[in-house]
Amino acid sequence: MAPVFTNSNGCPIPGDAFATQRIGKHGPLLLQDFNLIDSLAHFDRERIPERVVHAKGSGAYGVFEVTDDITDVCGAAFLDTIGKKTKVFTRFSTVGGEAGSADTARDPRGFATKFYTEEGNLDLVYNNTPVFFIRDPSKFPHFIHTQKRNPETHLKDANMFWDYLTTNQEAIHQVCILFSDRGTPASYREMNGYSGHTYKWSNKKGEWFYVQVHFISDQGIKTLSNEEAGALAGSNPDYAQEDLFKNIAAGNGPSWTCYVQTMTQEQAKNAPFSVFDLTKVWPHSDYPLRRFGKFQLNENPKNYFAEVEQAAFSPAHTVPYMEPSADPVLQSRLFSYADTHRHRLGTNYTQIPVNCPVTGAVYNPHMRDGHMNVNGNLGSTPNYLDTSKPVEFKQFALQEEQEVWEGAACPFHWKYTDEDFKQATALYNVLKRYPNQQAHLAHNVSVHVAAADAHIQDRVFEMFSKVHPDLGAAIKKETLQLSPRK
Ligand code: NDP
Ligand code: HEM
Repeated sequence: MAPVFTNSNGCPIPGDAFATQRIGKHGPLLLQDFNLIDSLAHFDRERIPERVVHAKGSGAYGVFEVTDDITDVCGAAFLDTIGKKTKVFTRFSTVGGEAGSADTARDPRGFATKFYTEEGNLDLVYNNTPVFFIRDPSKFPHFIHTQKRNPETHLKDANMFWDYLTTNQEAIHQVCILFSDRGTPASYREMNGYSGHTYKWSNKKGEWFYVQVHFISDQGIKTLSNEEAGALAGSNPDYAQEDLFKNIAAGNGPSWTCYVQTMTQEQAKNAPFSVFDLTKVWPHSDYPLRRFGKFQLNENPKNYFAEVEQAAFSPAHTVPYMEPSADPVLQSRLFSYADTHRHRLGTNYTQIPVNCPVTGAVYNPHMRDGHMNVNGNLGSTPNYLDTSKPVEFKQFALQEEQEVWEGAACPFHWKYTDEDFKQATALYNVLKRYPNQQAHLAHNVSVHVAAADAHIQDRVFEMFSKVHPDLGAAIKKETLQLSPRK
């Protein structure tokens, strides 16, 4: 049966959907025409604020399955049995551009996955790079602004970008990854996901470990050259969205194998880097990858706005036996995401179906009311925790038996030193294993930095020379060819 066309309160609109009430045929309109006002007023409010970062993205549902026993490392219920399955929703994204920007931009890719577990929603909010640009969280807004638009010209600005990076050189490792061809993945299917941060997992006996998680693409890694990425940005800015949607629709949903690296507290004390330093990886040879699961994305959302735009991920959304570490950037993220969700989606953002826990047992009777409360608001249940009635409290491994912190309250800026170049140099050596990859890194930096002023270019040459003198020299040579000095 054909649907009846109605206004938003369900009242059928008589006759013609496009007719408006007016005086005579061509006179002024009438304020009483609710059908017109209802439609225009809703249209005026169609846009919610876009994500301040990661605004352009694509999402899909899938299934996670435990492949190997990991219960000696983590007591989370969704990991407790080999073969156990959990529904997931993943959103991929670029970081710096607006919601309409090109999918092939040189940028880290976001890789955020929500696991709808029986103990609540677990969000693993990762990137496709194993490290990040900062380790002082206060730098995040500054760094992000250098990739947004210049406040005067409203243009992207190579001076802002390289000025920041040459004065905050702890970013060098991530900058080398970003300007390698991994900075322009061929698709969301053909890239890895990394926790980047160290997290803390514990088993049911209370033993605990620092961990890093890796999602390795079963499709293999594929990248675009700078020129291919640039051409696609013009010819098909939604290239990655199209690729993901069409592959899933054709039954060719991508999958990732999940691995964990672990460290004991003792190992962490002896490691040559801090496990709380987001600019460092844990070398594979010292901390081998251990497989524990896989997930496949196999279902496209039916409605992009409802399911992808309204998805709200947060590193603070975790489950028992999985905790954040003291990584200062991670600690700050624990605050920032739910804060932005309350601004972007409203205080009841967890009631939106894509964000709703599936446990069926969310019980926090003091969290009531607010904009867009649509789940019955816990009915007549008292609006406070009535401890005279039975309430169950679960017990998990206790944090106070794990790390002990002491020290003076003091301001600390984790400034860069030459040590921060070691892993960037290791990466430069890794690139030698792949044809032309060292040359592509030099080329990709040069075409970008050619748009900066000469004094900033000079700082860039010097910075990359500390990664490797050949790299600095190659960047200098090509940049000066592209932007000759007078
Ligand atoms: P390994 O020799 O054990 O492994 C090198 C890693 O580098 C592989 O994971 C490889 O991924 C990855 N890789 C290859 N090309 C690039 C690129 N353009 N950008 C980023 N990663 C790339 O090395 P180590 O563990 O000793 O680390 C050496 C360097 O490798 C690090 O400094 C880091 O930059 C990089 N790396 C390390 C990771 C880690 O967790 N240890 C993770 C990712 C990168 P693949 O096998 O898929 O080709
Ligand atoms: C998105 C803040 C670092 C991964 C976001 C958003 C904010 C934010 C405000 C938008 C969220 C939304 O509107 O729903 C921060 C801050 C950081 C930081 C303050 C550091 C201090 C990182 C790091 C990673 C990361 C280190 C990865 C390891 C992501 C991802 C998204 C995102 C994947 C997109 C989530 C989605 O698809 O909705 N971040 N971020 N961020 N961030 Fe961060």
